[in-house]
Amino acid sequence: MSITLRPIQEGDKPEWLNLWTGKGGYIEFYKSSHKITPEISDSTFARFLDPNEPVYSVVAIDDSTGKIIGFANYLTHRNTWTIENALYLNDLFVSEDVRLKGTGRKLIEYIYSEADRLKCKKCYWSTQFENHRAQLLYTKVGVKSGFLLYRRPD
Ligand SMILES: CC(C)(COP(=O)(O)OP(=O)(O)OC[C@H]1O[C@@H](n2cnc3c(N)ncnc32)[C@H](O)[C@@H]1OP(=O)(O)O)[C@@H](O)C(=O)NCCC(=O)NCCS
Repeated sequence: MSITLRPIQEGDKPEWLNLWTGKGGYIEFYKSSHKITPEISDSTFARFLDPNEPVYSVVAIDDSTGKIIGFANYLTHRNTWTIENALYLNDLFVSEDVRLKGTGRKLIEYIYSEADRLKCKKCYWSTQFENHRAQLLYTKVGVKSGFLLYRRPD
């Protein structure tokens, strides 16, 4: 499958929203109790396009249809252990019907090139213990950090 990766653009919003909060999309996949309201999605999308916000998104387009089939949302932040910023890959998604064709790997490779462009020393992400499918990709393109993620209780 031939795909193109490029930074998200204003006109991508309906297709991105569909993969983000639509049926069979990323938020549904997580079955999270945290509700992603339309206001949150609007704010997140606006941040991608705001050059003053360190929040970014890349979309994967199927060249044969021109449709968006995946995305990666990422952000950069300060790090007390380095002078350079770190890049955190916040969300990664490929449409169910086109998985296992190399799009996820290409999106991560794009993220690595962005870490270089944005001069980020560290590039990292997290995943759920039970997300074995994603880990089959991650063990090929990354290394396990050895850290566990904790958060404040609700
Ligand atoms: C995780 C996800 C992004 C992967 O996207 P994808 O386009 O299917 O990934 P790719 O096709 O690039 O890579 C899959 C890799 O895993 C390997 N893989 C996947 N399933 C496998 C299996 N059952 N056995 C062996 N290897 C497997 C493939 O061989 C491939 O490796 P390769 O690049 O060396 O060929 C996609 O499954 C997805 O969106 N899942 C739902 C959301 C999600 O889990 N996001 C990540 C949250 S942390």
